[in-house]
Amino acid sequence: MGLVDGRNAVVTGAARGIGYEIAAVLCTHGARVVVADRDAEAARAAAARLTGAGGRAVAVTCDVTVPEDVDAAVHTCVSAYGSLDILVNNAGVTRDATLREMTLDDFELVVDVHLKGAWLGLRAASLVMREQGRGTIVNISSLSGKIGNPGQTNYGAAKAGVVGMTKAAAKELGHLGIRVNAVQPGLIRTAMTEAMPPHVWQAKEREVPLGRAGEPVEVANAVLFLASDLASYITGTVVEISGGRGI
Ligand code: NAI
Repeated sequence: MGLVDGRNAVVTGAARGIGYEIAAVLCTHGARVVVADRDAEAARAAAARLTGAGGRAVAVTCDVTVPEDVDAAVHTCVSAYGSLDILVNNAGVTRDATLREMTLDDFELVVDVHLKGAWLGLRAASLVMREQGRGTIVNISSLSGKIGNPGQTNYGAAKAGVVGMTKAAAKELGHLGIRVNAVQPGLIRTAMTEAMPPHVWQAKEREVPLGRAGEPVEVANAVLFLASDLASYITGTVVEISGGRGI
């Protein structure tokens, strides 16, 4: 028996990185997954990989900042699989720069993708889940939203906002059988972080009590736990997946 056997999930930004790994872990544990990503070709390739590995997955082209795209991803899950039991708001971008260099576009893009994108997902999913009387949502925040990183005033603000949104939604939706939680990954090895200069990467790694960066699957496993019935009495929480960095 998988931990999410028979459940149906939408994972945004699932074409690669942490989102892909979340989709893969959910599939392995019995869920059917909608791979929702702005990058249509990569989303199709990801869904094909998941299916090739024995999972059940479909791809949907979805820019999380576009309400119609987010609604369509949710409705694809319901029409293809019959329900929406799990939403993971994972899609993300960075546009790091100091305050002297950061443009308003850099700020607005990052806030739009992380904060507006997660809110649109939350809104669309909760409308379906309240009718079902059950559902669980996991928002991907970041340790940057807790401790703040220089050069990330846009990203830190958005990721801290995700925590406030998670708690408000958990309080609002709990009586409807819907749980909402967040995770805050620290330094995780993906394309997003591999763009970092090596000396910055090494300095960050030195701050990790466990002595290494995390792997995407280590985030995915925590998301699986929160999405599954093992977490049936957990809502409104923030789980740090940081190897102890920032505690
Ligand atoms: P990544 O860059 O490897 O993958 C991000 C995915 O999101 C890509 O497939 C991309 O096409 C998609 N995406 C970007 N903008 C989108 C939009 N508007 N609509 C739909 N899809 C969009 O990034 P990674 O590292 O896998 O990050 C995933 C999440 O984890 C993000 O929310 C990120 O902020 C968060 N995170 C990552 C950390 C890390 O160390 N890698 C640490 C803490 C949080």
